[in-house]
Amino acid sequence: MATVIRLQPSGKEVPCSETQTVLEALEHAGYALPNNCRAGACGECKCRVLSGTFEQGFVMDMALSGEDRAAGFGLMCMAKATSSVLELDYGTADAQPKLYPPREGVPFVIIDKLMRALGVVELRLRPLADRLRYWPGQYIMLGGQGEAPPPRPYSMANAPRPDGEITLLVARHEGGQTSKWIHDVLAEGDEVFVSGPYGTFIGDVSLDAPVLCLAGGTGLAPILALADAALRRGFAPPVTLVYSARTEAEVYGRGLLTYWERRYPNLTIKTTLTRQRTDGYSGRIPQLLERLYPDLAGHRVFIAGSPQFVADCAAAALRCGAEARHIFTESYFPRAAPALPEPSRLLSPSPLG
Ligand code: FES
Repeated sequence: MATVIRLQPSGKEVPCSETQTVLEALEHAGYALPNNCRAGACGECKCRVLSGTFEQGFVMDMALSGEDRAAGFGLMCMAKATSSVLELDYGTADAQPKLYPPREGVPFVIIDKLMRALGVVELRLRPLADRLRYWPGQYIMLGGQGEAPPPRPYSMANAPRPDGEITLLVARHEGGQTSKWIHDVLAEGDEVFVSGPYGTFIGDVSLDAPVLCLAGGTGLAPILALADAALRRGFAPPVTLVYSARTEAEVYGRGLLTYWERRYPNLTIKTTLTRQRTDGYSGRIPQLLERLYPDLAGHRVFIAGSPQFVADCAAAALRCGAEARHIFTESYFPRAAPALPEPSRLLSPSPLG
């Protein structure tokens, strides 16, 4: 039975076919309801149903408790509507995707600290309490307390996981107190406190167009998180990732990227070195782009790296025919800790989720 999903309090309506879950119908219409496992296990997609009926399907008790069910909640990744109208409490007045309110001082333990490339440390952190909810592409602030170095922004390099683990890539900057503290002082087993999530370099699950991602150095982190989420979700259009490092020794994540390329036929990855000649690509991405992708009409372009890298890549993408409104950027530069947005702050996301 064809159904309409009505989002309250906006009253906006979304069609839902009988084969779709509620989450799939919402995503198809461009509503980025938070989700993670898509299998009834994490509870991320929990919504209160105001009226109408649905089949919940098999979900785990830890994701949807008896009290949740009694209060009218359901897990939308597994729910199929069984009435002509299903009204959901979507929670936002204009039914835009919700931005998670940032939290301060969230305790994590460093479960792994690995040198993964020359000058780049990978930190894997697990939360001690509730996990931090974030959209792929967002970042947290990590720093010491008291006399320790000030918090600095680091993007999550992975899509959200049910256990809340986050992965950060930290490049060592000789002038940067916090990166040196992370490289030289922090150790596995240490407890750290993070704040976040912040940022609007996130995805739009309704995107259905070819994607080009350009990453310089540890700008790869938010691109990895976006790609991780999109590929896991079954994003079908072509996705191309061009990654630039100075030398072979500075290339991060070769194993993971090779795995993704073999696992997902729609993904192509190219690595270029800017200070070393190889049999592969050499030179800066802005100079390579016109040769590699002379026609970017209709593409969505995601760029992350240093401000100069981002500016040069964006200019090159425009020369290749990408539209300015379809270019999304994340620059890494010194900045103060962001002010906490209002809890009800809404977000218009950039494409790719
Ligand atoms: S996305 Fe995990 S329970 Fe729905």
